Amino acid sequence: MDEFIARLPKAELHLHIEGTLEPELAFQLADKNRMKLPFTSVEEMRAAFNFSDLQSFLDLYYASVSVVCSEEDFYELTLTYLKKAASQNVKHAEIFFDPQTHTARDIPMGTIVHGISAALKDGQSQLGISSKLILSFLRHLSAESAMETLEQAAPFRDHFIGVGLDSSELGHPPSQFVKVFDAARQQGYHVVCHAGEEGPPEYITEALDLLHAERIDHGVRCMEDPELVKRLAAEQIPLTVCPLSNVRLRVFKTMKEHTLKQMMDAGLLVTVNSDDPPYFGGYVNENFAAIQDAFDLSQNDLIKLARNSFEASFLTDKEKQTLI
Ligand code: HPA
Ligand code: ZN
Repeated sequence: MDEFIARLPKAELHLHIEGTLEPELAFQLADKNRMKLPFTSVEEMRAAFNFSDLQSFLDLYYASVSVVCSEEDFYELTLTYLKKAASQNVKHAEIFFDPQTHTARDIPMGTIVHGISAALKDGQSQLGISSKLILSFLRHLSAESAMETLEQAAPFRDHFIGVGLDSSELGHPPSQFVKVFDAARQQGYHVVCHAGEEGPPEYITEALDLLHAERIDHGVRCMEDPELVKRLAAEQIPLTVCPLSNVRLRVFKTMKEHTLKQMMDAGLLVTVNSDDPPYFGGYVNENFAAIQDAFDLSQNDLIKLARNSFEASFLTDKEKQTLI
């Protein structure tokens, strides 16, 4: 089955570029930039990837990415991910970046976007992997800060295709961000939103009705609300599920307790993604392998999930045809 998974062409739709920083690269960049990580070695850093909830992960994620500073650093971070993804037969990736994490430490928007974008371009020409970029607002910061970020990104609008909402979910519902998402939609951006990871099903409904999200990131807690499940199935709203992330952040105690198979059986448009792979113990193929093993999924189930990933992407029909 591992061979079969490795050979399946896949799209990855839920991946935070900041969350792809492997400890080895973190130490390399810390050395180069004469900065200190809160760990003395790669092994010590990896050993700290043991989380109790979303916030305990986010604290480490924000601290670690502080060693990524220059345009070259953003380039290297991104190209390293793309090489790994291409090696796993990921044909297309829709990648989040969190500009506020970097602008807060005085890194210009242009440095971030140009570094990532240059790598995406080289990923296409050198590795044959297609990609798109999604700007994600941090929901633990204010709606005003999100609006300011959208304005700062305006000169770089050709570099990204959509906006999203991530970071600490509980206490930060989508309803707080209506204005900035309205503005983004008016400017022609696609809209996605993390909802129903730790937050209640109501946050998913808010993301759909108030932000007009075209895709829900995670969304696993929808299963607590049968009416919502019916709606998500009827409207075929894609859910970008991240199984290893959910188990590592204790949304589910074990992979066997994950609701992914029930979600598939309910007719939901489920996709499988890696979120922040080094932190959660695997890239997209490891996520596929973990659910295959937990639910004894058939080859047809795996094909369906891989097909869903292209279906749920923002690729045009013509682009899809060239990739699958
Ligand atoms: N949830 C919320 N914020 C995040 C995540 C996530 O899974 N990954 C990186 N930032
Ligand atoms: Zn995420």
